[in-house]
Amino acid sequence: MSTKQYTYCDYAAGAPCRPEALAAFAEFATQHYSNPGAHHPLAYMAKKHLYELHERMGRAIGADPREIVFTSGGTESDILAVRGMLAEAKAPRNELVISAIEHHAVLLEAQRLERAGTRVHYAPVSASGVVDLEALRRMVSERTALVSVMYANNETGVLQPVHEVAKIAHAAGAKYHCDAVQAFWKLPVNPKEIGADLLTLAGAKFGGPKGTGILYNEMTNRLAPVIIGGPQEWGYRAGTEDLSGMAALAVAMELANAEQGRVWTHVEGLRNRLEETLAKALGEHIRINGAGAARLPNISNISFLHIEGQAMAIQLGEAGFCVGLGSACAPGETDPSHVLAAMGSSWEDAIGCIRVSFGPDITEQQVDRLAQLCIGNYKHLRGLG
Ligand SMILES: Cc1ncc(COP(=O)(O)O)c(C=O)c1O
Repeated sequence: MSTKQYTYCDYAAGAPCRPEALAAFAEFATQHYSNPGAHHPLAYMAKKHLYELHERMGRAIGADPREIVFTSGGTESDILAVRGMLAEAKAPRNELVISAIEHHAVLLEAQRLERAGTRVHYAPVSASGVVDLEALRRMVSERTALVSVMYANNETGVLQPVHEVAKIAHAAGAKYHCDAVQAFWKLPVNPKEIGADLLTLAGAKFGGPKGTGILYNEMTNRLAPVIIGGPQEWGYRAGTEDLSGMAALAVAMELANAEQGRVWTHVEGLRNRLEETLAKALGEHIRINGAGAARLPNISNISFLHIEGQAMAIQLGEAGFCVGLGSACAPGETDPSHVLAAMGSSWEDAIGCIRVSFGPDITEQQVDRLAQLCIGNYKHLRGLG
């Protein structure tokens, strides 16, 4: 079976790797294979490349090369940020504040820290999925070590007021971690402009290879490494450096930045077209989660009432459309989403949801076909005429 038979509408879970990134990967894997920690001419060349690649990854987000820690992706970066900062936190400044809609990488790490004795506060969100800044303000204090609030939610695409969150954290003397995994490529992402002290990116979401990512780590942070055993990545992540992954990631970051804004305007129009067509045909039978807030241009989170989202997703798959459920990264994908629960959705709304996330190549014909399939499947599953 060929992947070409399918219309891929699951970009929030992972984008195809860009050929230019793959070419850079191959070049580094075959030409610059030396371990940069060794002591011979090829190692010295590799070390020079290592620094240059950190410079390029840093430049793409307005950061210094020494502020870039290369990781295996969003999960590792999130865990390094939260665990690493809390490990260095000293009483009385040793509390953690996160939003209730963080990715599981942050959420489960926060829960683990809580079980180990850390005081964790979970900031609620509004019905449209935006963090409640007043509630957050009440939770952040001189006892807060770190605030972690994502840029754009991976299930709904809802944008968070990251600049205000940074100000609240800093006013209390706390550090701010921003998971910008979904925002990069669609929006300008610059940690210094946002006011983020730590920021997570995952290459697989914008055309880098799977297993590549970054933690931006502002120079004055005190961060404990999670992977120990060597001095690599400024001491924050041990292990022989993956120059090939870095080269591919640097290329993907540069290309994503160059495209940003330009490729998404028409996608937003098509995302809106899908939602309008569904609303017109199915009215009260659906809900567009997060529609009341500013959102990423490519994500639509739709609850089909009184059916299971999984049944819808399977039927769409059989008809050639790949869509997500609430979140492909959720442990036990059929569990109702913690994000929709935090937005006050009923169990039923949450269980009936699918996540459509378009890529830049989506066409009007494909969107119209998808809409008609959703309408037909829904009527069939509900036994409606
Ligand atoms: C917002 C967010 N954070 C973190 C992650 C985890 O990234 P990775 O799969 O690269 O570990 C994801 C993955 O979907 C995500 O959407």
